[in-house]
Amino acid sequence: MLTENTKSRDEGSSLTERLIAALGQDAVLIDPDDVARYCRDWHGDVTTGAIAVLRPRSTAEVAKAVKACSKFGLGIVPQGGNTGLVLGGIPDAPEHQVVLSLERMSAIRTIDPDDFSAVVEAGCILSTFKDAVAEKGMFFPLALGAQGTCRIGGNVSTNAGGINVLRYGMTRELVLGLEVVLPDGTIFDGLSTLRKDNRGIDLKQIFIGAEGTLGIITAVSVKLTPYPDQVATALLALSSLDDAIRLFRRARRDCCDLMSAFEFMPPLAFTLAQEAMPALPIPIAGDYPAYVLMEISGSGLVDIESLMERFLEGVMEDGLVVDGTVAASQAQARNLWLIREGMNEGQAKRGAHMRTDISVSLSQLPQFIADAEKAVTDRFPDCVCVSYGHVGDGNVHLNVLPAAGLSAGERQAVIYETKTIVNTVVDRYQGSISAEHGIGRLKRADFEERLPGARRKLLTALKQAIDPEMIMNPGCQLNFSVNR
Ligand code: FAD
Ligand code: LAC
Ligand code: ZN
Repeated sequence: MLTENTKSRDEGSSLTERLIAALGQDAVLIDPDDVARYCRDWHGDVTTGAIAVLRPRSTAEVAKAVKACSKFGLGIVPQGGNTGLVLGGIPDAPEHQVVLSLERMSAIRTIDPDDFSAVVEAGCILSTFKDAVAEKGMFFPLALGAQGTCRIGGNVSTNAGGINVLRYGMTRELVLGLEVVLPDGTIFDGLSTLRKDNRGIDLKQIFIGAEGTLGIITAVSVKLTPYPDQVATALLALSSLDDAIRLFRRARRDCCDLMSAFEFMPPLAFTLAQEAMPALPIPIAGDYPAYVLMEISGSGLVDIESLMERFLEGVMEDGLVVDGTVAASQAQARNLWLIREGMNEGQAKRGAHMRTDISVSLSQLPQFIADAEKAVTDRFPDCVCVSYGHVGDGNVHLNVLPAAGLSAGERQAVIYETKTIVNTVVDRYQGSISAEHGIGRLKRADFEERLPGARRKLLTALKQAIDPEMIMNPGCQLNFSVNR
């Protein structure tokens, strides 16, 4: 097969014509401006290219596209909303790869409130799906800053986390079934909505978090919960990150596991958010050492407002929370969340910077952050560390903003070195260098460096068994040294 592929590739100039002949003009974008839109990462740090962008409309068309790529020896880079932060969804070998966008497969096949489940196509935008589900009185708990752009297939392929993980789990825990086009064009139909099914190995799990390296997810069946029509959101000021962890433990106990979000932010969050959104109101003094954005939610007979009131009374009396504000309306709650979301945009506006996605055990998180920030600023005293995120999950984004006035080359050198410094501290704490974003191409070398032999052996065996021609997202997660 490899010989045949190589032969096909040698006939290079007519490749796009042959793709169009196989898949139809409408399904293949080749205009350089069109293609460029799919080949740039969210931050705009990296721009690549592709032979073409394939845009199938149905599962059958995905299967046809996969077979054509296999025949022509092309690597396939699946793409959802292209909000991934680790370069998994854009090509790294533009002359050998196509992007396969799921954006035209966006139908919601069913929403079944009685069964607490739904079936949705991979290209549906997450917020579109959440809104449709809400109209039926139901809730899909996955929530992240990119939800207006990312797509369900991308969420499943990255096993996305976000702000509601501490109550509802990562995406994996929300998935009931999958429909997947395998690298030989076979359709794996696993779209069951059964809650319990122990008939042997649960095969859908291997595609969740695989970042498109084993097949193309075309549809997903998911769990729904009743819509939490009572939500209490509070922005709280604290004396330290240690106190934030104490507050988290206390909230889990006192709030009967009805806490749905617990996000940590440093005081710099306000400045960064306002750099992105100058009109954003900040309803709390900005000079406390630490802040937590906390949400309790529920439906039915519980009284969430009074629960939040009683909880805050207790923790303020005990001095765990030193100041705070509770949103009095949905609009006020939205503004509080915009501070958290605006932080990302504010950092992007400051230019290229070092981003991480780390998890360590909850108990060790404050000491880890102190050690890692110290290691960075000992080496680069003019850098600014921004540590924030889903601390209830032991997950911190410890980012580093290089000093102003550096050249692009100097910035890249600082980014590279600070990443190495922080990763060394992560290793010391036996943490993860990717808590929720995946590996993609950005973290591949760091991942491979830390991969134990037995795990590498299993991952290689899986790849070879399912994708022997190595056409699915080559270069993503692991390097199998195939020129595609
Ligand atoms: P893409 O970026 O298009 O693709 C991601 C990966 O999945 C790629 O490897 C791609 O090849 C593969 N893929 C995509 N679709 C398919 C498919 N149908 N079949 C097979 N493979 C596929 N992530 C979090 O986990 N938590 C957060 O809180 C969070 N916040 C974010 C905030 C912002 C502002 C931004 C920009 C990103 C954030 N992310 C977060 C990262 C990103 O949004 C998630 O990884 C998201 O799940 C990616 O979805 P997508 O549709 O954009 O996927
Ligand atoms: C967040 C992304 C970066 O939590 O994961 O904002
Ligand atoms: Zn995050």
